[in-house]
Parts: sequence; C-alpha cells; structure tokens
Amino acid sequence: MKEHYDVAIIGGGIIGMSAAYHLAKAGKRVAVLEANEVGKKTTSAAAGMLGAHAEGEGDEDIFFQVGRASQELYEKLTVDLQHESGIDIRKSAGGIMKVAFTEEEKNALCRMQHLSTFQWLEANRVKERLPQITDDIIGAGLIEDDVHVEPYLVCRALWQAAVRYGAVVQEFTPVIEVKRDKEALTVKTTSGTLTCRDLTVASGVWSGRFFEELGLSHSLYPVKGECVSVWNSGPALKHTIYHEHCYIVQRDSGKLVIGATMKPDDWQTVPTLGGVEAVIQKAAQLMPSIKEMAIDQCWAGLRPATSDKHPYIGRHPEDERILFASGHYRNGILLAPITGEIIRDLIINQHVKEEWLHAFRIGRKEASLV
Ligand code: FAD
Ligand code: GLY
Repeated sequence: MKEHYDVAIIGGGIIGMSAAYHLAKAGKRVAVLEANEVGKKTTSAAAGMLGAHAEGEGDEDIFFQVGRASQELYEKLTVDLQHESGIDIRKSAGGIMKVAFTEEEKNALCRMQHLSTFQWLEANRVKERLPQITDDIIGAGLIEDDVHVEPYLVCRALWQAAVRYGAVVQEFTPVIEVKRDKEALTVKTTSGTLTCRDLTVASGVWSGRFFEELGLSHSLYPVKGECVSVWNSGPALKHTIYHEHCYIVQRDSGKLVIGATMKPDDWQTVPTLGGVEAVIQKAAQLMPSIKEMAIDQCWAGLRPATSDKHPYIGRHPEDERILFASGHYRNGILLAPITGEIIRDLIINQHVKEEWLHAFRIGRKEASLV
C-alpha cells in the first residue's frame, strides 16, 4: 500500500522547509520530496539579508508589510530553532547601510525618513561606523532592522526541527508527476509513489512545470545572481553595505559575501568570469580595500522571479487541495517564515490577511503568461 500523508511538499529549499516545519509543528503528517539535497539550490546562493526596507519600493508596498511581518517572525524563530534543532542561524546585528552617491539617490532613500527604523547619516557619520567605505558617498540610510542570517543554516535548522516534529524528508527524490482524483492526490517520484490530502509546490524556479501540469498559467522565470566571497583582512564590517543591486555582507566566519549580478532568463548555475568581474568592480567602488582581499569562492543561483516580482502563495483556484509557495525572487530568505505560516494557516483553516492572499494569489492577471 502507498504511504499516505496529510501534506506532501515538493521542494526542500528554505520555502518548502519552512512550510514543512510550521505544518509538522501544528501536528500534520508531512513529507518533503527534494530532487537533490535540502537547501543546496537557490537557498544556498543567497546572502541572507532580511531586507524588508532595503529591497522594497517604500512602506506603502505590500512587500514591505509582509517583509516586516516576516522579519519580526525571525525574532522568535531564531530562539525556537536553536532550541528545537540545536542550530544557531547566525542572525547578525548591524543591519544595512544603504549608501547614496548623488542627491537623487539621497532623496529616494529619504522617502523612508518618517519610519523610526530608518536613519539618514551624512558621510562623516557613515565613515565613523564604516571606516572601510569609499570617500565618494554623500551619506547613507541606516536600517538597523535589516539584519542578516545564514540561509543554509536556517534551512537546515527548519529541516532538523521539522523532522523532530515528525516530518519525513526524502532527498534525491524528484517528483515526476502529480495525479488528481476525488479521494486523494497521488505524487509519483523516481523512488515510489505516495498519496496526500494536501500538496504544496515549493520547488523554487523549477515550479513552473507543476503550474502547467496542474492546468495553470504563471510567469516564473530565473534571474541568475553571481556572488564572490573573500576573506576580510581588515576590521569586521559593522553593517552590510548596499547600493543598487550590489552588497557586501559580513559573515561570522570572517568572510565577506559580495553580490550579485542580475541576469534574467539565464538557467546556468555556473558563474561566469564576466559576472564575477562585474561584482568585484561594483564592490570595489563601495569599499576600495576589498580588491586586496583573498578570494574564497564564487557561485551562482537562480532567483525565482515572477512578472510583478511578488511570490505565488495560495491555493489552486480550482482545486483547494493544491497550494503553491514559489517565486520569492530576491527575498525568499526574508519571506520564508511568513510563507510557512501562511501555508500552515491555509491548510489548517486559520485566518490569513485577505490583502496578502489577494496580492500573492495564483492566476493573478499581472502575472499571467504573455
Ligand atoms: P530553492 O532554494 O531553489 O528550493 C527549491 C527546491 O526544489 C530545490 O532544492 C530543488 O532541488 C527542488 N526541486 C525542484 N524541482 C523539483 C522536483 N521536481 N521534485 C522535487 N524537488 C524539486 N533572498 C533574501 O531574502 N535575502 C538575500 O540576501 C538573498 N540573496 C540572494 C542572492 C542571490 C545571489 C540569489 C540567487 C538569491 C538571493 N535571495 C535572497 C533569494 C533567495 O535565495 C530565494 O528567493 C530563495 O532561496 C527561494 O527559495 P526556494 O525554496 O523557493 O527555492
Ligand atoms: N536579495 C539579494 C539578491 O537577490 O541578490
């Protein structure tokens, strides 16, 4: 007889593992099916910034509201995961220093000035906190709440804790087909078949095929990001340095993570020399001394983007047993806790904010295939 689960989850990245953790903790019998190794795809490529302010378009945006809610969830999650998995997810202090080189950039940043979490600093005050920074800036917005975590450690901690709550996680088990009939959903993998009451598709940028096979349109596409890490031979950075799409993040290990390129529709997960060169050039404009530092490694990951840059989180419009949690683009690490809670609440019939479900709904017009 086939094994039966309350919920099967396709994909063991940070989004799938967050859904698994929250559901297993709520008492559901959960199976996660991961094609490769847990957390080793896009999740491992991320810098780990929780950039609710830095990555958004201002506080009016739905992204800001959801991002802030998720950022706040990290407070408790960090403590819970330490307790439940024994893993420290290395949530840093310091936040992001989002720098401005021009008055125009300053004005754009200062649109956040009414927020108590945002502080404009003139160049001399930035220098006091970050002596490594270039002399070319005119100032920076300091956002202390936009801290960072280590993405793979978060994913691993969610995994270990989910297993502690009874979840079954199968690596090297790609899902090849989902069959629907009235009684149950049948999930076919390369190593067997299982049935489930509910199914969540959380296979990142590779979720598109499941939308299509389940009769839905979508606008998912990859935006490749290339990064480099170096060994910081100077004083530790007290804040992440951020400008446009370039950032320098201090890791506890003494490494600096430097990111990242933005290459739409590129499915290659190997970094190119040109990509790495571009990242180094930009980083050196922010922090000239970085050019002298020893290279640790370089890598690339595929951000799961949608045409409106919002994720898909919610139910299949015609089959409520099927849910999606995909398309988290530049912010899947930030949004993992709230996504896990939303998926849990939908499955256990708890209230979820209507405006969030509306913004992230499956089949929304702005995200339909062109
Ligand atoms: P993934 O981590 O890709 O997980 C999906 C999983 O599904 C994979 O493990 C894959 O093997 C599995 N899978 C695929 N097909 C199948 C199948 N058929 N059967 C079973 N399993 C399958 N976000 C932030 O919040 N902060 C950051 O600082 C940040 N920096 C980033 C920097 C870079 C360079 C990049 C590329 C991304 C960054 N992101 C950041 C974005 C973040 O990494 C992603 O949004 C997030 O990792 C998406 O997680 P996921 O679980 O949806 O996808
Ligand atoms: N959020 C950082 C990135 O996607 O590169």
